[in-house]
Amino acid sequence: MNKFNYTDFTSHLLAWYDGRSLVLPWRNCNDPYKIYLSEVMLQQTQVKTVLPYYKKWVNKYPTVQSVANANQEQILKQWEGLGYYGRARNFHKSCQIIAMQFNGDIPALPDQFSKLPGVGPYISAAVMSIAFHHPLPAVDTNAIRVAARLKMVESSSPADSKVIHRYLSDNIAIKRPGDFNQAIMDLGREICKSDNPICALCPVSKFCKAFVNNFVDKYPVKIKPAKKPHYNIAAGIIWNKGQILISKRRENGLLGGLWEFPGGKIEKDENAQTCIIREVKEELGVLVQPTSFLKQIKHAYTHFSITMDAYHCDYLQGTPQAVGCDNWKWIAPEEIRLLPFPKANHKLFDKIIAEEGVC
Ligand code: ADE
Repeated sequence: MNKFNYTDFTSHLLAWYDGRSLVLPWRNCNDPYKIYLSEVMLQQTQVKTVLPYYKKWVNKYPTVQSVANANQEQILKQWEGLGYYGRARNFHKSCQIIAMQFNGDIPALPDQFSKLPGVGPYISAAVMSIAFHHPLPAVDTNAIRVAARLKMVESSSPADSKVIHRYLSDNIAIKRPGDFNQAIMDLGREICKSDNPICALCPVSKFCKAFVNNFVDKYPVKIKPAKKPHYNIAAGIIWNKGQILISKRRENGLLGGLWEFPGGKIEKDENAQTCIIREVKEELGVLVQPTSFLKQIKHAYTHFSITMDAYHCDYLQGTPQAVGCDNWKWIAPEEIRLLPFPKANHKLFDKIIAEEGVC
């Protein structure tokens, strides 16, 4: 312990953090809303990917109230491409609750904050420590890896989780818990990396059991990631009188709340065209006829990849109904760029516009 009552480990870590020149727009800004937004965006997503989204977002939605006033479609459009759309839907709902029940101020008490939609233990600890100085360790995969090496525990069992949590709780800087948490995040991202950690540059290597015992590459024990599934998909660009029929994905599913060209997974005894006819009937209760091939696209999402065959289709009969989707609408082709669509669908946009009137 030293004059701040910090452990030697904590003092070394903070001295390293203080000496860094890393500038991130959500640091030193003291605005709980922006800190909350940054943590939601940074969950599962790298800093370099988040930066342009964060800046664009803050420009358009500078306050809780501005998010609360927007509709879900506008929110999803702004989030488009960042993935894990449940984060955006929850953040939107949460801002509406904060606007109504807390006068637009982010609740400063962990018990209140952690009841908001999408706020789990990590987000709660990160925001509460950075914005309001609650001494709560923010335990994400980076923090787990750092602490697993420091304590030389495997990290996968509940007992290991307890050791990791206790180690971080015991060492958190009481007066600077947000800086402590962010120092651990930076250390995990830049030095104590999963592969090829740079122990020579680590400010706390002398406290690291795995380093001292020459076992850094063995901790935490790696679990082989499951192979990403691949899906063959067909989608119809359904035309009627110069308009296109689009459907809205179910709010709680994958890519929930986004618009798409109706279609789905090609089943065993189907080709792309028969798949489109079946899917459109199931989703919207409408009969269509595929007429010409538009384009094949390949796209890798975080947890799966797809090959999508898109066909122009004629609308034949039936009034659309949201049977297997949340909503539907006929739109002018130019409108596709204004609505939130999954990234894979974007690869079709130019060709749809170019072929308008030809099909
Ligand atoms: N990852 C999650 N939260 C972060 C933060 N506040 N700064 C940098 N990286 C992060």
